Amino acid sequence: MIHPLLPELIELQNRDRYLRPEALAELSRKLSLSLNHIYSVASFYHAFRFAPCGKHQIKVCIGAACYVKGAEAVYDAFASHLGLTGDQDTSADGLFTLSKVACLGCCMLAVAVQIDRHIFGQVKPGNIPQVIKDFLQLASEEDAAAEAGNSSSAPGQTEIRLCCCSSCRAAGSARIMQALQEERQRHGLEFSLKSVGCHGLSFRAPLLTVFNDGLYYHYDQVQEHTLKTILGRHLSSRNAIRQIGWQAQLALHRWYNRSCACQPEVSDSPAIGQYARLVTANSGQDQPEDIAEYQQHGGFQALQRVA
Ligand code: FES
Ligand code: FES
Repeated sequence: MIHPLLPELIELQNRDRYLRPEALAELSRKLSLSLNHIYSVASFYHAFRFAPCGKHQIKVCIGAACYVKGAEAVYDAFASHLGLTGDQDTSADGLFTLSKVACLGCCMLAVAVQIDRHIFGQVKPGNIPQVIKDFLQLASEEDAAAEAGNSSSAPGQTEIRLCCCSSCRAAGSARIMQALQEERQRHGLEFSLKSVGCHGLSFRAPLLTVFNDGLYYHYDQVQEHTLKTILGRHLSSRNAIRQIGWQAQLALHRWYNRSCACQPEVSDSPAIGQYARLVTANSGQDQPEDIAEYQQHGGFQALQRVA
């Protein structure tokens, strides 16, 4: 049973990045609840903050695998790079808040660090400035893409599904997503793009599936430089002039990347590999943050049975 105050508190924290005293006072008036009661509920949950939070969240994994690979030293290096002392967790410019978290689910990349939605793997104290620089670059590219209206739901017969879960992200799926959006826009390619959850095959990350004419073409360990080969196999431009340019680029790309094998696993099933999935039946197909899609595929049915 979810406490009725939680949705309100979550909304306030999402809006302000922490629970502002003024916002809690306003909530107390709105709900005719004592401020003490609201604080007693909010302070029960570790996830709520009562102090201002930076624009970006850096979470250093200190789970077992990361710990033995030096996570504490990585955390200290971030703190020193951000100029944090004592109990401070937020940089003076309000850009970053630093914290420790338990396993991020990509232990093979230890030490793993999550900054907002991006995972960075094999982080060492010496490469903290580079990690921050890479993150800021990714963040600004994402902002630019959002402003340009590069939605992930362009119409089209072909659907490309890209796993954007932790390991695939750490292996570069955010950059691949960006590159796919750019290629689509630049060449007028007709496909819809969807980010999906973990297939349970993180050792083959990043995973990309092209769904076309009832068949699934699963590509693993996809790299930016292999994308053109993949797109060229399945897609053409909807504009005749741009199609000429697209074909010319593909020919050049094939010439320079003659050794690129990049063969997909072809199947009539969205699942990769020869195994039956039960609990994770729709991973790799659903967008994990889309509750409507989750319900459409039978989500919460088990809950109804026990209710
Ligand atoms: S222990 Fe760090 S990702 Fe699992
Ligand atoms: S994170 Fe992509 S397959 Fe697991």
